[in-house]
Amino acid sequence: MATPESNAGRQGRHHVGREVVVKVEGLHKYFGRNHVLRGVDLEVHKGEVVVLIGPSGSGKSTFLRCLNFLEDPTSGDITIGGVHVTCGGHGSAFKRAVHDIRMKCGMVFQEFNLFPHKDATENVIEGPILVKGEKKDEAIRRAHDLLTKVGLAERMDYFPSQLSGGQKQRVAIARAMAMDPVLMLFDEPTSALDPELIGEVLKVMKGLADGGMTMIVVSHEMGFSRDVADRVVYMDEGQFIEQGPPSQVFFHPRDERTRRFLRHVLPEKEPEHAAELGITEVGQDLPAPEATPGGAEGS
Ligand SMILES: Nc1ncnc2c1ncn2[C@@H]1O[C@H](COP(=O)(O)OP(=O)(O)OP(=O)(O)O)[C@@H](O)[C@H]1O
Ligand SMILES: [Mg+2]
Repeated sequence: MATPESNAGRQGRHHVGREVVVKVEGLHKYFGRNHVLRGVDLEVHKGEVVVLIGPSGSGKSTFLRCLNFLEDPTSGDITIGGVHVTCGGHGSAFKRAVHDIRMKCGMVFQEFNLFPHKDATENVIEGPILVKGEKKDEAIRRAHDLLTKVGLAERMDYFPSQLSGGQKQRVAIARAMAMDPVLMLFDEPTSALDPELIGEVLKVMKGLADGGMTMIVVSHEMGFSRDVADRVVYMDEGQFIEQGPPSQVFFHPRDERTRRFLRHVLPEKEPEHAAELGITEVGQDLPAPEATPGGAEGS
């Protein structure tokens, strides 16, 4: 795996620092007898953008939801922004640490999850006022700044029903950012959107990355990953199988499971690059790395 220093400026143009913002050690999650996360480790540095890919049911959403304790991890250790939790605890100190970790994470979901009876501004100020005790005037001022940043200066008083999917998702991003998170989690933020609306959301996400936000993104938007991700992690059956820069994981995967997965994704998502690799149809095997023009660095 590449060091953060070697990643800085090589993929996205944003800076990746030395500070570790996220450290996950030996994370396990059972749903009943279903062992969904099977000992996952991850370290993410400040400003780093990590993209998580993998087949349906492999545990990607569960992993994100465990990071901010929307699901209770069964065991393992999570440290985010300097707050450490040993999972599986109870007690008041445990609960306080879980609360503190939640405060450090912003999350954006596939299906937006906006309050339907609140306009864009009200959606954004809700958390800062109720959870952080911010003054209403100040919360509104910041909401307007954030909504302007995500390109919604003209839509601040629109209700979700009056907004397109892309606009709703941008409100959701502004809402998450309003809590001043140290880490943003995105779970397939564009997969519910019409194709023509995907770009505007990815652009806002790229803007956050350029601004130095630390991000973990579940997405199969390979163009975005290749532009913005410092690291792509391939997940299968509750484990991280392989990780590295996008050029490596997407085009020169080492593990047979990653290769098998990409055979199905590449022709659909990246037809040009699939063709460059000599793949013209779904399911066709990836050629050996040495057969690829450009060698191991790929694109
Ligand atoms: N709340 C839940 N209760 C019980 N089982 C769950 C729950 N959430 C997820 N699971 C199970 O955990 C496993 C992983 O699900 P998860 O949603 O994390 O996968 P995923 O990689 O995000 O898949 P997809 O690409 O379809 O979104 C699946 O077997 C799923 O049925
Ligand atoms: Mg999911």
